[in-house]
Amino acid sequence: MKVSVIGTGNMGRGFAARLVKAGHSVGVHGRDAAKAADVAQAIGAKAVSAAEAGKADIIVLAVPFDAAVDALKALGDIAGRVVIDITNPLTADYMGLTIGHTTSAAEEIARAVPGVALVKGFNTVFAQVLAGDGKVAGGHDVPAYLASDSAEAKAVAAELARSIGFGVVDAGGLKNARYLEALAGLNIYLGYGAGLGTAVTPIWLPVAG
Ligand SMILES: NC(=O)c1ccc[n+]([C@@H]2O[C@H](COP(=O)([O-])OP(=O)(O)OC[C@H]3O[C@@H](n4cnc5c(N)ncnc54)[C@H](OP(=O)(O)O)[C@@H]3O)[C@@H](O)[C@H]2O)c1
Repeated sequence: MKVSVIGTGNMGRGFAARLVKAGHSVGVHGRDAAKAADVAQAIGAKAVSAAEAGKADIIVLAVPFDAAVDALKALGDIAGRVVIDITNPLTADYMGLTIGHTTSAAEEIARAVPGVALVKGFNTVFAQVLAGDGKVAGGHDVPAYLASDSAEAKAVAAELARSIGFGVVDAGGLKNARYLEALAGLNIYLGYGAGLGTAVTPIWLPVAG
């Protein structure tokens, strides 16, 4: 698949590297073209312009939530594209969410950039987990929870997730991004606030007996 990664930070780099490893055609785009070129070169991807990034089959949005709408709009006409929103609307100290309950980052982005097929996902995956290709203890794949109002877009995102080694959990419609973003908030609290570290990931496992 032709995939664009918007953002060259921890998540953008990690995503692009895993996508390259899985054989996808990956374009890296960032606000700093020189940094995007360095990141792309380091992982065997291609640095691309905003316009080129907008032509990919799938666009992975890996910038802060506050910058997400502008970053997407800068790509030009992306109507119909599958956009995977990995953002979390975090407070400055990372210990809370700036929005929730009645909306979510994903729903706000979908509202501001109508016409894209938005999928919420991977926002519960720490950058450290994304950077490795480890399994959850017990041999389970790290889950990518995917929420979208488009079944087709969710299927495309699921195929992408599996291709880079994630398990997929269908998390329902885009409205459930409210839960996924809160889940990420809990993950961040447990990882940083409660000292579990960032080599952890939320997963639902069956209970025997
Ligand atoms: N880190 C995690 O473990 C994790 C896990 C799940 C989800 N997320 C979410 O993933 C997204 C990226 O996180 P990250 O950890 O990769 O952050 P990061 O390392 O700080 O990288 C952020 C990227 O966004 C760019 N950026 C920042 N402000 C921007 C703006 N105003 N306009 C355009 N681009 C801007 C940065 O550009 P410069 O390099 O030029 O500054 C950088 O490329 C965030 O929404 C975060 O909530 C993070």
